Amino acid sequence: MVAVTPLWPNLVEIPKILGASVETVSLTYSPRGWTLDLDRLLAALTPATRMLMINSPNNPTGWTMTREQQRTVLEHCCRYGIWIVADEVYERLYFTAVTGASHRRFSTSLRATSG
Ligand SMILES: Cc1ncc(COP(=O)(O)O)c(C=O)c1O
Repeated sequence: MVAVTPLWPNLVEIPKILGASVETVSLTYSPRGWTLDLDRLLAALTPATRMLMINSPNNPTGWTMTREQQRTVLEHCCRYGIWIVADEVYERLYFTAVTGASHRRFSTSLRATSG
């Protein structure tokens, strides 16, 4: 399993207790906020990966995936058959974007439009 970190600790610790091998890809902090190195994440997601754990909007950083990142990650995971477990419990507390921050809603509409 691959997880974007930091994130709510249970999302990594529970899979570990269940025997999963967990690789982490950490967000990067700068004075402008937290960012994801998408190339690093894609490189970590190989055909041997079973699952991506992603928490966006993120606890504790507040980092939120962009639509473009969601699209790229979804296409990559579809290509390799990787499950995306998206913890979006804070999606309704995200007030910046015109569209919602939910990966699930976005991926459902993408799948619907791509057949
Ligand atoms: C990202 C995230 N997911 C899940 C939970 C768990 O929420 P609950 O205790 O309401 O099940 C938390 C709690 O802080 C959280 O931060």
